[in-house]
Amino acid sequence: MPLSGKKILLGITGCIAAYKACYLVRYFKKAGAEVKVVLTQSATKFVTVTTLETLSDNPVAVEMFPVDRFVATHHISYAEWADLIVIAPATGNIIGKIANGIGDDLLTTIVMAKQSDVMIATAMNTEMFNNPLVQENIAKLQKLGYIFVMPGSGELACHTVGVGRLEEPENIYQRVVEYFSGAKSLSGKRVIVTAGPTIERIDPVRYISNFSSGKMGYALAQEAAIRGADVTLISGPTALDTPVGVKRIGIESAQELLEALKSAYSSCDILIMAAAVADYRPAKYSKKKLSHPTPDKIELAANADILAEIGKMKKASQTNVGFALEVDSNVDNALKKLKAKNLDMIVMNNPTLPGIEFGGDYNAATLFAAKGKPVTLDRMTKAQMAARIIDAIERLKR
Ligand code: CTP
Repeated sequence: MPLSGKKILLGITGCIAAYKACYLVRYFKKAGAEVKVVLTQSATKFVTVTTLETLSDNPVAVEMFPVDRFVATHHISYAEWADLIVIAPATGNIIGKIANGIGDDLLTTIVMAKQSDVMIATAMNTEMFNNPLVQENIAKLQKLGYIFVMPGSGELACHTVGVGRLEEPENIYQRVVEYFSGAKSLSGKRVIVTAGPTIERIDPVRYISNFSSGKMGYALAQEAAIRGADVTLISGPTALDTPVGVKRIGIESAQELLEALKSAYSSCDILIMAAAVADYRPAKYSKKKLSHPTPDKIELAANADILAEIGKMKKASQTNVGFALEVDSNVDNALKKLKAKNLDMIVMNNPTLPGIEFGGDYNAATLFAAKGKPVTLDRMTKAQMAARIIDAIERLKR
């Protein structure tokens, strides 16, 4: 059994998705784990102690100082006992408390005394999730090694549609199994990510390019590396540091990108083409600086459609993902590109919308796969979006 002998402390906080945590206890138990549950006071408004004691076969704790039981330092004993602490669902409130070192109830004090990793599966309303303070707290905890299972999109309890839904219990369970097996979801896979702009030289001092910062592609490369992939990042000029554990190949022009990709592509499993390729280049490069080059003096030649070219080389085992930058959010255009470039998935985004401008840290997108329903990803950080895009690619691969 995949979790045989593992001791999991499950913290449940006050959120309507708390009922899904009951399924999680069953999955953990069926997989052989021993489970102890701690509820916050608010969680008891959504699920009962009796339900969780029955499912977990263990007493459930809520109070820091229960009147009827000798507990002494039970926050420390729980922290020592656990091989992994899972908090699902985790509200913005508990994330804020943990991120700021607050221990004002049993669950937060256990986390403060933790001796194991902590996996946090978030669930909240979209506006709450997108609140910069919540995002800052998540980023702070991620830097400290807390593992996040990000929320999905869909209809929320408040009848709005957006990001915030707790990830399905079977997927949280899967993440826990992967955690204990040490198997990373992309280990053994070769991933190529292209990122940044291409620049097309006119003369020694001028070029044609675009405003791509490369941040989305770099976040994808980082996420793939975290998941154990062997990642090659083929990047145009950017101001970004190479992500940890990633091999970076620097290119300048679309032609160089095509050459680099042609030589690396055949051995890769997944290609994610996030580079903003210039569609045209000056037909002739002038070695000598031109004097006042007027547009009529710069003859342009079309660059190859790199993704379409590579699409012709694609084998059945390979997965190609492209981006479609659609300023009118034109779904038909994105779907045409999906087909024309022989892609498995296309990420449609529109960086002219407020809040997700070029060069920023946020993005919003819709994922269209060659098969299956589109997935809407509301505004979130590029790191979070990278995780969601790679989740979708992994689902395609499965
Ligand atoms: N792309 C490419 N080669 C090009 C242009 C784009 O490989 N010469 C890739 C991009 O990296 C992206 C996808 O194709 O993954 C779609 O790019 P986009 O600029 O949105 O579409 P285009 O096909 O260039 O069409 P248009 O700009 O006319 O919308």
